[in-house]
Amino acid sequence: MKNFWQKIESPMITTTPMAGITDTAWRQICKMWGADVVHTEFVSADALYYESEKTLKMIAYDPMEQPVVVQLFGKRPETYPKAAKIIEASGIAGIDINFGCPAKKVAGHGGGICMLRDMDTVKKIVEQVTSSVKIPVSVKTRIGLNKIQSKPGEGQISIFDFIEAIKDFNVSALIVHGRSYEVPFTGPVDLGALKKAGQEFKKHFPKGKYLINGSFQTVESVVSDIKYTKSDGVALSRALYGRPWLFKQIKDYIKTGSYEEIDWQTVKETAIKHAHLLWATKGEKGFKEMRKHLLFYVKGQANATELRQQLVSVENPKDVEKIMKKI
Ligand SMILES: Cc1cc2nc3c(=O)[nH]c(=O)nc-3n(C[C@H](O)[C@H](O)[C@H](O)COP(=O)(O)O)c2cc1C
Repeated sequence: MKNFWQKIESPMITTTPMAGITDTAWRQICKMWGADVVHTEFVSADALYYESEKTLKMIAYDPMEQPVVVQLFGKRPETYPKAAKIIEASGIAGIDINFGCPAKKVAGHGGGICMLRDMDTVKKIVEQVTSSVKIPVSVKTRIGLNKIQSKPGEGQISIFDFIEAIKDFNVSALIVHGRSYEVPFTGPVDLGALKKAGQEFKKHFPKGKYLINGSFQTVESVVSDIKYTKSDGVALSRALYGRPWLFKQIKDYIKTGSYEEIDWQTVKETAIKHAHLLWATKGEKGFKEMRKHLLFYVKGQANATELRQQLVSVENPKDVEKIMKKI
C-alpha cells in the first residue's frame, strides 16, 4: 500500500487517534461500519525508540483494519526515525504525528499542541519522519494556542503558522481539530478557521488530504460541515462513542440524501461483537475497558439505568451476551 490517502474517495470518513479508545477491537468495529481510515491511540516515539514491549503491543493490528495509521507523539526529534521505521516494518499504512494533545502530561512538558511554540522542533520532527519512511505521513493539530501560556494578550500561534512551518515537507494529510488549546474539548468548533486552514493547506499541498475534526454530533451536521469547509472529509472522535454505525449513516446520507436509524438488535450484535474482539485482543485483564463502551451502546435505551447497573460489572463476553440478550 503506497500513498493510500490518494486512493480513498472524498469525502472520506475516518477515526481520529484516541488514547484509551482506538485499540484494535474498536478499530475493527469502526472498519466493519465503513471507516475509510482508522488511527491507533497515540504512541510514544521515545517508547518505540527504546522498543518498549508494551508500546510495541499498541501498534499491533489486524489486516482487516487497513489502512491503519499509527500516531506518534514526543518532543525528541532524534527518536522519530527509528520509531517510524519500526512502524513501517510492521506493515502499517501510515504515520500521523501528534501536534494537538492538550493533556497536562504531554502539553505540560512542551509536547503535543505546545510544540507549536517551538516551530524549529516541529520542522525537525516532520523532516525526520518524512525522510525516514516511504509510507505517507500525516499531521494532526488544533486551530491555535496562546504564544505564551495563560497570556492571551501576548498573541496567538495559529494553524497558519503551523502550515507555514511544514510546507516544505512531504506531508500527505492534515487533520485539524477546530478548537484551540485554551478551550480543549468543549463548545463548538470554529468552522470559519477550519475552512481557511483547508484553503491554506491546499495552496501548499494541492494533492494533500484535509480532514476536519471536532464537535460533530449528527449525520446532517457532519455533512454540512464538510461542504462548508470544502474539506476532503471528517475525522470522528467522541461522536462515535456507542455509535460506530455513524460511518455508514454519513456515507448513506452523502450518497442518497437519507440514512436508516439503527435498530436495537443491531446495537446488541455490535456490542457483543465488540466484546468478543476485545476479549480476543486484550484478554481478561483488558476486558474491563469494555464497560465504558457498553454504557455508550445502551445510552438512550428506555431501561438504560437498570442495564447500566448490570453492564458495569461484566467480566467477559458471555456476561455481555447474557445481559444484552435478555433485552
Ligand atoms: C479520551 C480521548 C482521547 C484522545 N486521545 C487522542 C490521541 O491519542 N491523539 C490525538 O491526536 N487526539 C486525541 N484526542 C482528541 C480527539 O482525537 C479529537 O481531536 C477531539 O476529541 C475532538 O473531537 P470531538 O469533539 O469530535 O470529540 C483524544 C480525545 C479524547 C476525548
